[in-house]
Amino acid sequence: MTAVIDVHRDALDVGRSVASRIAEVISARPDAAVGVATGSSPESIYQALAEMVATGLDVGQVQWYALDEYVGLPQGHPESYRAVLDRVLVRPLGLDPATVHVPDGFASDLEQAAAEYDILIRAAQIDIQLLGIGSNGHIGFNEPGSTFTSSTRVTELSESTRRDNARYFAHPDLVPRSCLTQGISTILSAAAIELVAIGANKGPAIAAALEGPTSTRSPASALQSHRHVRVSLDTSASSSLSHDFGAVPLP
Ligand code: F6R
Repeated sequence: MTAVIDVHRDALDVGRSVASRIAEVISARPDAAVGVATGSSPESIYQALAEMVATGLDVGQVQWYALDEYVGLPQGHPESYRAVLDRVLVRPLGLDPATVHVPDGFASDLEQAAAEYDILIRAAQIDIQLLGIGSNGHIGFNEPGSTFTSSTRVTELSESTRRDNARYFAHPDLVPRSCLTQGISTILSAAAIELVAIGANKGPAIAAALEGPTSTRSPASALQSHRHVRVSLDTSASSSLSHDFGAVPLP
């Protein structure tokens, strides 16, 4: 495993640190392709990026690409990832919504939508990909058992992921059962990957991904084969690692 692992005091420091690296990529290449995740882990990163935009970072030419989208929600549902990205990314950063690409979970032909999204991602050549990790080790919605050669596809959410994500829905039964997700090989095509985990419930998944064998039981362990992975954890998410990294103070 060649990943750089940073442990920070809290989610705010994780956000500032990861956002500064995304900003470096954008400053070097104003029309960068940035892969974005949804869920709670990246929220502090988007907040930090919004502050950078307010103080002069120009993101006008950046193209943003989502990892995944639920299937089966009504169009415009507030928990669809299109709607979530609108709330956490498009509005705070003042983006043109046309620059934010999300797999079409509402398409009548989902297989075709998946194939088209895979082509879009590979053509975009993602410069930097942001990833969260599921408590079961998923990346995107590649659940345990997903092959490392998988491409963007329609797939099922595991029961553990449906339980984890029930916090966003009025009732656990309302959590969608399927989704469109970039495959593991699609994710690995990014030039650089930023994996983020916040909270003790991510500890075992992080330890399996970084210190365990590469195995489809831990989809995130596929990252061990990527040459440019940086992992940003808060102290609690690092608690299951065998090595004590200590928290890095930010300036
Ligand atoms: C979201 C995604 C998922 C999440 C993961 C962690 O686009 O692809 O893999 O990153 O489920 O979610 P949080 O951050 O809410 O714990």
